[in-house]
Parts: sequence; structure tokens; C-alpha cells
Amino acid sequence: MNKDKVRVTDFARMKAEGRRMVMLTAYDYPFARIFDQAGVDALLVGDSLGMVVQGAESTLAVTLEEMIYHTRMVARGRKRALLVADMPFMTYQVSAEQAMSNAGRLVKEGGAEAVKIEGGLVMAATVRRIVEIDIPVMGHIGLTPQSVHRMGGHRVQGKKAGHSPGCRERLVQDALAVEEAGAFAVVLEGMPVDVAAEITARLSIPTIGIGAGPECDGQVLVMHDMLGLSDSFVPRFAKPYANLWQQATEAALSYSREVREHAFPGPEHCFRSKAA
Ligand code: KIV
Repeated sequence: MNKDKVRVTDFARMKAEGRRMVMLTAYDYPFARIFDQAGVDALLVGDSLGMVVQGAESTLAVTLEEMIYHTRMVARGRKRALLVADMPFMTYQVSAEQAMSNAGRLVKEGGAEAVKIEGGLVMAATVRRIVEIDIPVMGHIGLTPQSVHRMGGHRVQGKKAGHSPGCRERLVQDALAVEEAGAFAVVLEGMPVDVAAEITARLSIPTIGIGAGPECDGQVLVMHDMLGLSDSFVPRFAKPYANLWQQATEAALSYSREVREHAFPGPEHCFRSKAA
């Protein structure tokens, strides 16, 4: 048994001890290994897969089969980090039975140790049913990308006061409902710093922020944003710690030039027949 292994039960302790939780998305084996060996606490196989890996405009078309496939790859690459898999759109909203059965597939076939579900008050009963069958659930409230059509785009939530979806008081209620339903942590995405700070102070479970400011108990970024692995829009809340797009471009240009100039492969890359 790996004593160093991060488990859902460590999350509450880390919050109590004031230790920040580090989460990154991962979608395949090599990046899972890199992040795991770098000591990242949790890997999220996010349905952002649809946008950053598949090139779609939203997360809505991602399927359960695709999530299982990518979760399995990430599971093979990580030893220490907690493995959380997103439940894609329409794999948990229809009924608690549907949600339990599909969460079970992510655990059984993908190797996930927890699932993440978007939605607060409205999803609380479903969160509870999944937790009751011993599958840990991470909540996700605020800017929930699966609600892109209701929100009118990927827009920051909680700027306005009120109890309607996306309003400030409602976000607090959403967070409390998810905690009450038994989630072990909750992602706070795209909301003002003060709203995230209030939620973090009121909850006993950890909050993991993305575009929600520094007061959250932990942070998560999409790996492509963190690594600079994009040539398009980088959200304001994301910080690129590398420029992999540029480096990959330069590598491809060098390789192309050397092939065209007969410089690659060199003698050191070639096999020779044995002398007769
Ligand atoms: O799908 C995803 O990558 C996510 C994170 C942005 C939290 O849900």
C-alpha cells in the first residue's frame, strides 16, 4: 500500500491544516505521469476534453465512453494523485439511477476514485445517492460549462445578487447543498473573489477554485492553459507556466528542415547489416 497516496479522506484534513490542494486536468498517460511525479495532489479527467483535446466549442458532446477511455489512460500513469473523472452532460441529469450506474462505470472501467458533477441545489439529491453507494463526489458550481446555453456563454457567475441560478446568494446555497449531500470537495469556477471567499469560509469541505481567486482551499487549471499548449484564447484567470505550443512548433520546424535537407536521420540513427 502506497502510504503517500492521496485519498478523498485527505482533502478534509488538508483543509483543516490550511494546506493548499493542487489539481490539474490530464487526459492521457504521459501527462498523468509527469503531473503525478511532480506531486500534484489530484488529477481531473475533465470533460474540457471536448474543447482542449477534441477541438469542440463546448463540453456538451463528450460521451461517457470517451471519458472512460481517457480516465483509463490517466489511471495507468498516476500512482499518488487522487483520480477524479467528470461525468459528461446527460449522463447524470436524467435520474439518480442513471447517475449511479454511469458513475459506477467511471470507477469500474476507468479506474476513477471519485466523480465530479456540475450543479448545486438541483443536483444535490443525485450527489447524495452516488455518495450512498460509496462513490465519492466532487461538486462543481458557479460557471458550469455544461450550462453554457443557459448562461449565454462561458460567463462569470455570481456578480448579481439574487436567488436565481447564477446569482450570488444562489451560489452560496448551491455550495451548501452540495456539502450537505455528502460531496468531499467542490470546484468553484468563474465567480468573484468575495463570493468564493464566503463559500470557502462557510463550508467544511474544501473548495477548489478556477477563476475564483486566491481564497479557495485549492486551485485547478486545465493543463493546456497551464502549459501554454494553445495558440488561441487563454482565459484571464489562467497562468501559462510554459510555452509548449511554441516549443512544439519549433521542434516540428527543425525536424521538417532536417528531413528536407537530408540531415535527419544521421548515422547515429541508422541500423547496419552485419558484415557478411
Ligand atoms: O472539465 C474540466 O476541465 C473542469 C475544470 C475546469 C474544473 O471541469
